[in-house]
Amino acid sequence: MQPAKDSGSTLEVVGVTVRFQGLTAIDSVDEALVSGEILGLIGPNGAGKTTLVNVMTGFQAPTEGRVKLDGESVNEVKPHDLRRRGVARTFQAGRLFREMSVVENVEVAGVGMGLTRIAAHKEAMELLDWIGLADRANVLAGALPYTDERRVGIARALIQSPKFILLDEPAAGMSDLECDDLMGLVQQVRDRFGCGVVLIEHNMRVVMGISERIHVLDSGKTIARGKPQEVQNNPAVIEAYLGKG
Ligand SMILES: Nc1ncnc2c1ncn2[C@@H]1O[C@H](COP(=O)(O)OP(=O)(O)OP(=O)(O)O)[C@@H](O)[C@H]1O
Ligand SMILES: [Mg+2]
Repeated sequence: MQPAKDSGSTLEVVGVTVRFQGLTAIDSVDEALVSGEILGLIGPNGAGKTTLVNVMTGFQAPTEGRVKLDGESVNEVKPHDLRRRGVARTFQAGRLFREMSVVENVEVAGVGMGLTRIAAHKEAMELLDWIGLADRANVLAGALPYTDERRVGIARALIQSPKFILLDEPAAGMSDLECDDLMGLVQQVRDRFGCGVVLIEHNMRVVMGISERIHVLDSGKTIARGKPQEVQNNPAVIEAYLGKG
């Protein structure tokens, strides 16, 4: 595994709006993520969190506004090319190749990034070892418990040491103990790779526990930004999100 490629990178959205026909999924949102930072992205169901991550990773073109990587506009850059430039993600739903082994799933992500099969295999094994799944390397991905699938998704994103990693609800369905492990893992991802991390998460203990900053969306709009403590005490957030359920 390579250490962090560089520090001082930024991934920004400036005045981003996304409209789907009549629906405004994201409404004039600004954010700037820097290397080494964990940013929590929260909000009720349908708030626009995944759409914002789609925009930041090239999967969704903004209707208005700009996406910038290290100050350069990347609005037109396709997800695969943005990935090669260091912007990686995981998906809300697993998306592993179920008929392939765990290590092959990580390997193909490396080959897709331009690694040789041999180099990808070596790096995939190191990553699996590091996330504690080396003993499952040759198991079919379809046979993995859901929570391990999520960690393989993180290994797939980490191959070739991205500068930014955007995690869409990695703790969904995890027990408290598994959440503790995941929190440790995300912090290690930041520490070891020096990545900037966006963490979309409904589990407040997880997201408040490891994020330096929190960005709260509601109906596509930013309703609060700040330190976890500030955000937790913000009446608009309590009203929109924390108070629900
Ligand atoms: N491709 C699309 N076409 C039309 N509407 C969409 C599309 N993608 C998302 N939406 C709508 O945009 C809004 C924001 O959705 P999004 O998936 O970004 O929310 P979210 O905050 O990730 O929600 P959740 O917590 O449920 O994952 C929702 O109303 C959703 O139905
Ligand atoms: Mg979502």
